[in-house]
Amino acid sequence: MKRALFIRKVLVFLGITSSSTLLISSCETEENEDVLNLEKELTEEEKAYLDLKEKTSENGFFLDGKLLYIDITNDLYSKLQNTGEFINDTDHYVLLLRKTDDTVLALSNCCPHLGTSNSWSYSKGSFRCATHGNSYGTGTGFEANCSSNSTSGNLKQYTALLNQDILTVDFDS
Ligand code: FES
Repeated sequence: MKRALFIRKVLVFLGITSSSTLLISSCETEENEDVLNLEKELTEEEKAYLDLKEKTSENGFFLDGKLLYIDITNDLYSKLQNTGEFINDTDHYVLLLRKTDDTVLALSNCCPHLGTSNSWSYSKGSFRCATHGNSYGTGTGFEANCSSNSTSGNLKQYTALLNQDILTVDFDS
């Protein structure tokens, strides 16, 4: 997708411009110049958001060192739009739980018992690993480390921030 058209679509999403002009003339050079001029008027925060929307547009995520950015409107991550739903993102070894309207938790998907990563279910604040039936909390304190033979405790938690529809997970936290 051309950058100007992509930006135009996001601006429509944000309510900064209307969709009618997008439909009528999204391919025209003049229109693209208008979009680029609009982009210049955006705040640094809006530009950073647009940049992440573009970088996550293909796969739904963008990994930058130890920072993982996820667009929760992408089909692969859309369950995270619903409170109480979770995704086991096995590519990034993380359980993502939509806890409230404003928060998503990011937890290690490595079972503290013997390290299974793909047998998780979630209920009432705890994740249960089906391999041997142990459950682990999603709170803080008494963190049970990956594959440490622990049968209780909380899963390791990473800092996760939700900004509009972009989730940032810091694996260095
Ligand atoms: S490996 Fe998860 S409970 Fe044993």
